[in-house]
Amino acid sequence: MFEQQDPNLIQLNSAGQLKHFLTTEGLSREMLTEILDTADSFVDMSAQQVKKVPLLRGKTVVNLFFEASTRTASTFELAAKRLSADVLNLNIKTSSTSKGETLKDTLMTMEAMHSDMFVVRHSDSGAAHYIASNVTPHVAVINAGDGRHAHPTQAMLDMLTIRQHKGAFEPLTVAIVGDILHSRVARSQIHALRTLGAKEIRVIAPTTLLPRHIEALGVTVYTDMLQGLKDVDVVMMLRLQKERMQSALLPSESEFYNLYGLTEEKLKLTHPDSIVMHPGPINRGVEIETSVADGPKSMILKQVTNGIAVRMAVMSMAMGGQMTEHQAERGSE
Ligand code: CP
Repeated sequence: MFEQQDPNLIQLNSAGQLKHFLTTEGLSREMLTEILDTADSFVDMSAQQVKKVPLLRGKTVVNLFFEASTRTASTFELAAKRLSADVLNLNIKTSSTSKGETLKDTLMTMEAMHSDMFVVRHSDSGAAHYIASNVTPHVAVINAGDGRHAHPTQAMLDMLTIRQHKGAFEPLTVAIVGDILHSRVARSQIHALRTLGAKEIRVIAPTTLLPRHIEALGVTVYTDMLQGLKDVDVVMMLRLQKERMQSALLPSESEFYNLYGLTEEKLKLTHPDSIVMHPGPINRGVEIETSVADGPKSMILKQVTNGIAVRMAVMSMAMGGQMTEHQAERGSE
């Protein structure tokens, strides 16, 4: 676990532009909207014959995934390539980390290769923040998920998916369901939804999977899923983070599914036009019924597709913020 500081002290440059992307917490509505608008332009580009732009031409992006990933790692790689960057995916299992090299030494080694951006996933909360605080000036750091703390690009691709289907956030009641306690995705979603003005954010979970004082984030807590789902516009399911459970917080997966799994029956309680989301990887028959995951309300694969556009947006914005700062510093020399 790393110590946390006010993220905006380091994730914004002196002009208020993004230069790292570490968390959705504390970012303004204008900034989140700029990310969504920029991502929208890349969604349109993905429909073109030529899916590349030169925004990161000549830049080197290093993907450092100290934890497993399918969606995030692949879409960051694709996003960087579509921005014309040179991309290096460090395989942590076969890297010198497995010989005991520290995170700091790995970073200094990658910096010595004149990297311009690190995309980092790490099991320790605050790891991306620590790296951004210690990295060479003008190297951008993008958080691809740190411990239980934050997964900001996941939250923003979720916001993009909601905006595409629902338009405005203000009329929406959104339910986040499942393992809130261990979920970096839930925290980032809650901060983004609040800032973007969602009418009501509900969290639905057994008390053993709810963080203490979660209400302080501006959410309404439900332990009864049947009550919590009533008339909601968006259902955001979460994965059971068994790798982060240090004690028996669940009676059994089948009991969890009975009480908190999203089934066709339970989905009938939501608004008729509701949509269903899940960040993946999904556990069918544990968090969600197969017919719901593959059904007409499911946005699960749309979320994956939107991940490319959102990651292109934050990478290009952060690199732009770093370059603006660099130019301002050179101008004042
Ligand atoms: N949603 C998500 O972070 O998935 P991965 O672990 O596959 O990257």
